[in-house]
Amino acid sequence: MSTPRSVLASIDPQMVIEGADVKLRRSISPRVSNLYDPFLLFDHFAFNDPVEGPIQGFPTHPHRGIETVTYMLEGNVRHRDSLGNTGIIGPGDVQWMTSGRGILHEEMPRRGADGVIYGFQLWVNLPAALKMGHPRYQEVSAAQIPAVEQDGVKVRVVAGEVRGVRGPVTEIAADPVYMDVQLQAGATFAQPVPAGHTGLVYLFEGSGTLGGDAVSALRMLVLTDGDELTAQAGPDGMRFMLMAGAPFHEPIMPYGPFVMNTREEIQQALVDLRNGTFVDAGSALVNE
Ligand code: FE2
Repeated sequence: MSTPRSVLASIDPQMVIEGADVKLRRSISPRVSNLYDPFLLFDHFAFNDPVEGPIQGFPTHPHRGIETVTYMLEGNVRHRDSLGNTGIIGPGDVQWMTSGRGILHEEMPRRGADGVIYGFQLWVNLPAALKMGHPRYQEVSAAQIPAVEQDGVKVRVVAGEVRGVRGPVTEIAADPVYMDVQLQAGATFAQPVPAGHTGLVYLFEGSGTLGGDAVSALRMLVLTDGDELTAQAGPDGMRFMLMAGAPFHEPIMPYGPFVMNTREEIQQALVDLRNGTFVDAGSALVNE
């Protein structure tokens, strides 16, 4: 007998300013309370004058102790880092970046052919044992992300499994589910989500029900515990990102782009930055 998940809390995304004057919609952000363990942050960015203003970006900045997951729907993000990696995250692509002990990178959004930029960045925590590990990237092009389609439902599986189809992102400590779920009007969707794992739904289009509870965009919905999520779309359909992951149950100490376990580790990150020992390998990021 399955235990259905329903909506425990509904979060109204707030406009915040990050990077070089980038306005974005933030649903959750790293806090000592760690309410959404292992998830730390979820940003939704779009650059459509005049609401968000002109296109800006995220000039060179460090990360330590986390994973950043960028998923683009429209437009692209040009990415460069201190390990010499460079690339474009385009529509439908995912970059799952495990910072480990440290990277320095820049992320610069650009409009697509239709003039739009639209995407998400999720931060996932790393357990204490992996926070000082080596950086790792999983770059996944749109073509490598399987889409499972049936009865008015289309699911793009980044991580986790839908009807036996596994997403390409693997070996992540939080054992995450991350998928883009699109439902046509009236369509229904049922997905196992492991009991005990934190479950979040970012509803960015349409309306419907989650576990029987009425919901409409834009909202971050925190799910109750259980082992299955059901959704049914309203008359305009609905689209959401489903996230689930195993909590680490460790204390966290967030500070800007770092999330460590203790204040001392944050201080060490700042010392390493000042001393040029933040990145363990590779060259410094060279600006054009
Ligand atoms: Fe970043």
